[in-house]
Formats: sequence, structure tokens, C-alpha cells
Amino acid sequence: MKQIAGKNLALIGFMGTGKTEVGRLLAESLNRKFVDADRVIAEREGQTIREIFAKHGETYFRRVEKEVMCELAQQRGLVISAGGGAVLDEDSRAGLRETGFVVWLDASVAELEKRLAGDDTRPVLAGGVDLGAIYREREPLYRLAAHVRVDTTDKSPIAVVAVILALVRGEA
Ligand code: S3P
Repeated sequence: MKQIAGKNLALIGFMGTGKTEVGRLLAESLNRKFVDADRVIAEREGQTIREIFAKHGETYFRRVEKEVMCELAQQRGLVISAGGGAVLDEDSRAGLRETGFVVWLDASVAELEKRLAGDDTRPVLAGGVDLGAIYREREPLYRLAAHVRVDTTDKSPIAVVAVILALVRGEA
């Protein structure tokens, strides 16, 4: 466990890469507390993410997201699943990296398009936006924030968990 001893284990990556499901399973395996940042935001605001975007706009959402990410970076020993856009903020990226082992869950754009088709819970994808363009904009930021990248394209959440456990146990 040398990679994560005394640290958080943070999952970053594009929407649809499985951060929440993988994070929940990882926390179970590692006997750690799991924190889904989007869930903290929604609970704090008493609204769904979609409602927050609709009522207050993306800038407001990003402000709350940054607040939550900075608070989580004060804690240790967590498994954190960050929202797909959390890496847009420099302080959030720095906080994650300083206090956590940061794993980037990635997938091909074609696979992400498949996984996210028909999803109406993610306001960033509403209105026929070009998912590939958003992915390409963010890719360098995921790269910058992460310690390691795990490709989830052809993997089940359980297989992704196995890869990450091997990494944190120093076996891979
Ligand atoms: C967002 C990703 C979402 C959520 C919000 C914005 C983004 O989280 O934070 O809808 O900008 O990529 P997931 O990556 O968990 O879907």
C-alpha cells in the first residue's frame, strides 16, 4: 500500500469512465470511506447536479465543486471520486495531487459516446455538444493531475478495481 499510505486515493476522468462505481468497490476492498464529490455537492445544495446547473449556472456549480474538492484535500485516507470537470480548476488539481494518489480513469471517445448515449443527468453534455471536443480539451488536464492512467475501455468496473489494487499494492 505504499502508494496510498496516509493519503487519499482519488479517481479523476471523463464522465462515463466509471469513477463512482469503481470508487465504491475500491473503498470496500480497501476498507476506506468512499466520498463521491458530486454527491457531496448535491447534498450540500439540496438539489441534483442538473438542477444546480439549471438554476444557478455552471460557474456557480464550479465554485461549489472547488470548495468541496479543497475540503476533501484536507482529509486523508479517503477514496474520492471527483466530477469529470473537477480538474478544470488548478487549486483542485493541486489539492488532489498533494494529498492523494491520483488515478485517471480513461476510455476511448467512441466508448464514452456509447456509454453516455441517452444520458440526461449530465448538463455538460446537453444540447448535442461534441463530446470528442470536450474530451480533447480536458485530456491534457487529466494527464497533468494524474499519477497513473488506467484505460477502462474494454474493462468491467471489477477488472478496473483489480488493476488499481495491483497498482496501489505495488504489484504492477
Ligand atoms: C461534469 C461531470 C459530472 C458532474 C457535472 C459536471 C463535467 O460528474 O460533476 O455534471 O463537467 O464533466 P461525473 O464525471 O461523475 O459524471
